[in-house]
Amino acid sequence: MRIVLLGIPGAGKGTQAHRLADRFGLALVATGDIFRANVQDQTDLGLLAKQYMDSGELVPDDVVVRMVVDALDQHPGGFILDGFPRTIPQAEALEQDLSSRSRPLSTALAFDLPDHIAIKRLAGRRTCQRCQRTYNVEFYPPKVEGVCDACGGVLVHRDDDRKETVRHRLEVYYGSTFPLWDYYRERGLLRVVDADGTEDEVTERAVRALSDVPSGQ
Ligand code: AP5
Repeated sequence: MRIVLLGIPGAGKGTQAHRLADRFGLALVATGDIFRANVQDQTDLGLLAKQYMDSGELVPDDVVVRMVVDALDQHPGGFILDGFPRTIPQAEALEQDLSSRSRPLSTALAFDLPDHIAIKRLAGRRTCQRCQRTYNVEFYPPKVEGVCDACGGVLVHRDDDRKETVRHRLEVYYGSTFPLWDYYRERGLLRVVDADGTEDEVTERAVRALSDVPSGQ
């Protein structure tokens, strides 16, 4: 299976991406996670991406496309892309790249969630600095406050989860990324999942939405 995930910031894409990747044995490529790891390591890519991420803007298409194409080179099997594509030019570049590899996309899974619930989720999100696993102080707290259950890393509130930045990320989303729902609908690839529910409920809905996608495709 070759899947892209769509949905507003806070819809639960990252949370579900890990669960679905485990369930179906798929490689997970999350552009936001790759950028954050580069920011932490202070690489050139990280320094460039940080300028955009901190203000809730998108990193330029050419930079992201190059990064994703490189990542796909490492994963010849099935994959989930979380956070990519985010613009029509990114989607076109992906389509072209996958077609040149004779590996067309199986589906675009879109997580549907009202803005006010997403905003509440982002306000409570805490992210492990080491393994990027996410928690939520209100809905899914770690066993020990501020410490990652999985790896013992420090949990932080992402810089771009500040209220004003979240508001701007939503504007950017509706301006640049939401048109991808139609892009994939027109290609018969869009499947919409109701993302309002517990993590387990949303996973089950996503698994059902993928049930008729052949695993080899
Ligand atoms: P990225 O990291 O991709 O951020 P995002 O798309 O804004 O998505 P989020 O990570 O904020 O939300 P999510 O949907 O993954 O929700 P999560 O599962 O964490 O990108 C960050 C930045 O990088 C961008 O702004 C941009 O600058 C740059 N970038 C990345 N890709 C790019 C691209 N392709 N082009 C250009 N720039 C790019 O869940 C959120 C919270 O809710 C968590 O606390 C979680 O525990 C909780 N939660 C999850 N599910 C549930 C549930 N069912 N019930 C209750 N709580 C839940």
